[in-house]
Amino acid sequence: MIYLNNAATSERKPPCVVEEMLRVLQGTGSSSRGASEDDLSAARTVIGARLALAELFSFDHPERVVFAQNATLALNMAILGTVRPGDHVVTTAYEHNSVLRPLNYLAREHGVQVDFVPVAPDGSIYLADVKRLVTPGTRLVAVTHASNLTGAILPVGEIARIAHAAGALVLVDASQTAGALPVSMPALGADLLAFTGHKALMGPQGTGGLLVGEGVQVAPLLHGGTGVHSALPDQPDDYPEHLEAGTLNTPGIAGLGRAARFVLETGVEAIRAQEAALRERFVTGVRRLPGVVVYGLADRLEHVPTVALNVGTVDSARVADRLAYEFGIATRAGLHCAPRAHEALGTLGQGAVRFSFGYYTSQDDVDAAVAALAQIAAEEA
Ligand code: ALA
Repeated sequence: MIYLNNAATSERKPPCVVEEMLRVLQGTGSSSRGASEDDLSAARTVIGARLALAELFSFDHPERVVFAQNATLALNMAILGTVRPGDHVVTTAYEHNSVLRPLNYLAREHGVQVDFVPVAPDGSIYLADVKRLVTPGTRLVAVTHASNLTGAILPVGEIARIAHAAGALVLVDASQTAGALPVSMPALGADLLAFTGHKALMGPQGTGGLLVGEGVQVAPLLHGGTGVHSALPDQPDDYPEHLEAGTLNTPGIAGLGRAARFVLETGVEAIRAQEAALRERFVTGVRRLPGVVVYGLADRLEHVPTVALNVGTVDSARVADRLAYEFGIATRAGLHCAPRAHEALGTLGQGAVRFSFGYYTSQDDVDAAVAALAQIAAEEA
């Protein structure tokens, strides 16, 4: 199989990630749950992962790197932990359901008002819309760093400046960019940054987390054991325990920490350059195919290596099925948990076929995908 669904997950992991997880699975204790050498070893593994992630995100507070099972939980912790009944929130039409659904829940149950920065049909978003929607009463501006549909990178730094001038907190969803682009928490102006471990970071599924800026107040979503401060009736105020309840996924976190180190050692700029070249090769190849429409290519946009397209009016699921079963190429069709982005691009009915490249994608993989699409387009468009 040629796996071009890296925006969903990175199918292959660096061997050092697998080795590190095996090392931990073959004998480890429990972090913060005992003082034996095995338990301390688990604690050192977890602390090492916090340090690697803090370095990756240029964040000075490793203790405020909070682990979660995925970006969805991290985003829920951030949104439900900061927004209060009746608050105003601004987000964008590019967001994933892991932002849209908690906000919709707050709107329905707690009178929260949510405004959406629109996405233009060419994929652009405009800062004028952000300025128009963010007001001095806005509590939170939640913005993805890059679209999981078209790969468009959003002007997060500028959005954060507008948000901060109005006194709002900024939550950045780095699910599509962590490991694929330099992601600096201070440069982005993020107060809160959610990430997943299993996409471009090349860690295991079931890992991710939330970075909580110093002084940012987040009410805990989960309440439970922390292994320290056990006499307190409530979650401790200290980080990371404030937002981490229950025994941690130490094997997963070990793999995540090793993956973050691998990205640091390889160089995120080098990874970015390699993947950008693959995307460019693919887009150049498919744009010239009659009947193929590529979405969100406004000149002013830069992209992570994710491309959404359609073949004429053919249902996106049919094209993805042909790619998988006739050509052995994995993509993702449908709405990608991003219904407002599809609405903006006019693909709510048809969906789109998403190709997403990763560190282990080769030029031959890209060429095979272009050739397969050429054949499908010639037969169906
Ligand atoms: N959110 C992931 C995707 O875009 C799963 O495919």
